[in-house]
Amino acid sequence: MELGEIRNLFEEWKKRVETSKDLEEMRQTFLGKKGYISQLFREMKNIPPERRREYGREINLLREEIENFIRQRGEEIKERELEKRLKAERFDLSLPGDTVLPLGSKHPLSGVIEEIVEIFKQMGFAVETGPEIEREEYNFDMLNIPKEHPARDMQDTFYVNREGYLLRTHTSPVQVRTMLGRKPPIQIIAPGRVYRRDDDPTHSPMFFQVEGLVVNRDVNFANMMFVLREFLRRFFETDVPVRFRPSYFPFTEPSAEVDIGCVICGGEGCRVCKGTGWLEVLGAGMVHPNVLSACGIDPEEYQGFAFGLGVDRFAMLKYGVDNIKLFYENDVRFLKQFKSL
Ligand code: PHE
Repeated sequence: MELGEIRNLFEEWKKRVETSKDLEEMRQTFLGKKGYISQLFREMKNIPPERRREYGREINLLREEIENFIRQRGEEIKERELEKRLKAERFDLSLPGDTVLPLGSKHPLSGVIEEIVEIFKQMGFAVETGPEIEREEYNFDMLNIPKEHPARDMQDTFYVNREGYLLRTHTSPVQVRTMLGRKPPIQIIAPGRVYRRDDDPTHSPMFFQVEGLVVNRDVNFANMMFVLREFLRRFFETDVPVRFRPSYFPFTEPSAEVDIGCVICGGEGCRVCKGTGWLEVLGAGMVHPNVLSACGIDPEEYQGFAFGLGVDRFAMLKYGVDNIKLFYENDVRFLKQFKSL
């Protein structure tokens, strides 16, 4: 082919190139190893020697023209194609994502603590807290449990590496902290973690209690019975049978343990209530005068009642869970059954 024909072909191609694919094809056709330009150069030997110089110059000019065109058009096409892609890929951030992350659920113990707290709040109780690493004095001494007193063995204690401190074995030290901190009338509950060296299907070395304390003039045992009965009725959402059994705690006198009719068997007797038909759910009593005195409250002027309950126990009974460990293993198959809490 002649240079003129190839120039015409080039002009034709120029009008048709639309995509980077077209452009690449054009490059091959004109500038490739077997392309038109190479062919023209190969024609050189048939050109009379005196015209060769001029011929060569013309081919080179055409080649440059083609190269420039391809470069320029290439940039245009690249820009256009990028724009097109960006438009097609535009993200609408307001659209909902297509991977919906599964929602977790409230831990059953958290749910039960919230329920208990809510019931007592409705009965006029305020919420208090205290530290889990507690002074031995507050956990024992000021609760009328002197050193070397056998009552200390009622609770197997974790001691920490610092003289006079321990992991609190119950929430009762919050009673002491509250009474030291302010004057009656006092009407508080104190939910929180407690620790004991205990480990079996119904005991975990760390568990939850809710403490209650009411101190005022003319507070009596009947007031306490009313408050606890009312709480149990609201928590179990039925008129559960409740009985108060005489018991002993160093920090209350008189003391009682509170039982409810077994919610598992309805009082018939089963494995959970060990055939008795009753379940112990609370420790309670009138605040011992020694405790009031130790906290700077005159027992001649004020009386109080206190109670303590195990949250885990309440959760186990409410949901029919027979192993306390399930609450602490965080197995999602267990936890996701409490989605409604
Ligand atoms: N602190 C007692 C316990 O952990 C429970 C309790 C609290 C009993 C308040 C009486 C009054 O066993």
